[in-house]
Amino acid sequence: MHIVHSIPDLRAALAQRGRPAFVPTMGNLHDGHLSLVHIAGQQGDVTVASIFVNRLQFLPHEDFDSYPRTWEADCAKLESAGCDVLFAPREKDLYPEPQVFKVQPDPLLADILEGEFRPGFFTGVCTVVMKLFSCVFATTGGGSAVFGMKDYQQLMVIRRMVQQFAMPIEIIAGNTTRADDGLALSSRNGYLSAEERQQAMALSQALKALAEAARDGSAPLADLEAAAMQALRDKGWEPDYLTVRNRSDLLAPADASARADAPLVALGAARLGSTRLIDNLEF
Ligand code: PAF
Repeated sequence: MHIVHSIPDLRAALAQRGRPAFVPTMGNLHDGHLSLVHIAGQQGDVTVASIFVNRLQFLPHEDFDSYPRTWEADCAKLESAGCDVLFAPREKDLYPEPQVFKVQPDPLLADILEGEFRPGFFTGVCTVVMKLFSCVFATTGGGSAVFGMKDYQQLMVIRRMVQQFAMPIEIIAGNTTRADDGLALSSRNGYLSAEERQQAMALSQALKALAEAARDGSAPLADLEAAAMQALRDKGWEPDYLTVRNRSDLLAPADASARADAPLVALGAARLGSTRLIDNLEF
């Protein structure tokens, strides 16, 4: 695996290598990330991953400084997953000066759910992803990029950005990788205490129960969502949202018939102790 830090070195490493399949990450890699790297391996001529903890997508009180940085282990995992080129820019490589030009995503998609509780999050994500795409694809004429479905709204926002800017990049979704008890793998799971880890599957269970109730029941969706949040509170969680949305636009389904037939997704974010977890379930 070829490791590069600067943008010119990345472009030199990718010259004459064909179409990249790219997996952007913030490191602290787990099997979920590696499954995305395996997908990338089947898509392009050269498999590229990046590790960059992007300060633009963290709010001042969030965990930018303490975000786990596990460089040696990450390199070993990427190498064994078949990554050809690892781009690990330093802050001065990606942001040599304050990043004053930013990508402003559609507020209808980006100011709800995660965007409501983490204002500016998707501006930070889109800005760094646009810049990473420019580093990887500008000299290669396009390719593909793989994003995990655990970050469901992020995947939708990125798809829309690529479509609106007519970027020659195919966005591929990778399924969420789960532990045996159903907990979605996430770098932030490492923050959970042993006791919290025992309870952490309650979020995916709550989403499953909400999805079933929404599909089968006739009660107003708002009541079902409120009940799902209360059930989590009763178990000691602090939920930000548990909700059922259309897969197409992340808006609430229009009516009961949409609820019975349309492709929907249940999405949730909740804090267990000091750890904020997100998850979703298509149904
Ligand atoms: O999903 C992530 O890890 C990050 O949001 C991403 C896409 C690497 C941008 O920093």
